[in-house]
Amino acid sequence: GKGTYPFYMLKEVDEQPVVMHRLAEKYLDAKGNVVLPADLLDALKQADRLYIVAAGTSYHAGLVGKPLFEQLAGIPTEVVLGSEFGYHMPMLSKKPMFIFLSQSGETADSRQVLVKTKALGYPALTITNVGTSTLAREADFALELYAGPEIAVASTKAYTAQIGVEALVAKALGTAFNQPAAKQFDVAHQLALAADGQQALIDQKEHLHDLAKDMFATTRNAFFIGRGTDYFVSLEAALKLKEISYVQAEGFAAGELKHGTIALIEDNTPVVAFITDPVTAEHTRANGQEVQARGGKVLHIAAHDLAKDGDELVIGDIDPLLSPLVTIVAGQLLAYYTSYDRGYDVDKPRNLAKSVTVE
Ligand code: M6R
Repeated sequence: GKGTYPFYMLKEVDEQPVVMHRLAEKYLDAKGNVVLPADLLDALKQADRLYIVAAGTSYHAGLVGKPLFEQLAGIPTEVVLGSEFGYHMPMLSKKPMFIFLSQSGETADSRQVLVKTKALGYPALTITNVGTSTLAREADFALELYAGPEIAVASTKAYTAQIGVEALVAKALGTAFNQPAAKQFDVAHQLALAADGQQALIDQKEHLHDLAKDMFATTRNAFFIGRGTDYFVSLEAALKLKEISYVQAEGFAAGELKHGTIALIEDNTPVVAFITDPVTAEHTRANGQEVQARGGKVLHIAAHDLAKDGDELVIGDIDPLLSPLVTIVAGQLLAYYTSYDRGYDVDKPRNLAKSVTVE
């Protein structure tokens, strides 16, 4: 049950630090090495390209996985929407391997892709929260998220668990390939940092509630911006807000603002800027200033080593590749309090089902 929590979503947000520690327990041995089934590691090693297939929040977790696999394991990685890919299949590489990301393991849009790629003879790994699910049973390999049941329609702990498992698999593959970047990437330490960073935000709930009121109490629209991994988390933070509070929210690559979107900025238009990427932090800040110059209201969520006076939220130390593990907790709580304050049923937003079993 949800115990003393008003909604499952808030309970599930709070569980994320525990899930990070659980992933370390389940996937790491005493020496801190990632333990994967040998046949799975072999299949991954033989692939010349990974295709991550997913929908919704799981697709957003897949986007965060792309740079993890490419930078830690040196393997080209595409992230695709099942509903698009299955019917408009692009030219594939010679030895593709498919990774299905799905909390429920029952998403029909992803399953139709698995049916097709299996018929073509390509290997598949499903990463899911439900080990007995259709996608887990029908793929060659399955890994679990160990996030515990996720009841709220808005996915929270499954997203962070998916990114955690992607990091573990990328580390294992990169280590098998002797990639220097994988050697330097201490995944056990990063999962512990993620848990600490998440907990620090969870401990600031009142502050996040105030920020949600200030930014979104009455607005009809909102924007989330960032670059690189911060762009990917912008997409997920926007989905959370639209899904449960019915605010029209969009995530944008910050650099694209001036190519059109900035025309939408009016007095008090809320814009959340994620600033955790050292390469582009100053550019994203400049985009925030352009928004402010047009009357928009900017909430800055910054990495502690990139933070400036006046930033509304500063997150704890974490590898920039994994910053969404922490920054999304702010996005989740902003969405939660906006929905809650507007009096909605946070766990059961209108028009939505927990798992989408039709195409
Ligand atoms: O069970 P899955 O991860 O395959 O579900 C995919 C999407 O339907 C799901 O993430 C959906 O977008 C959530 N309601 C988002 O919070």
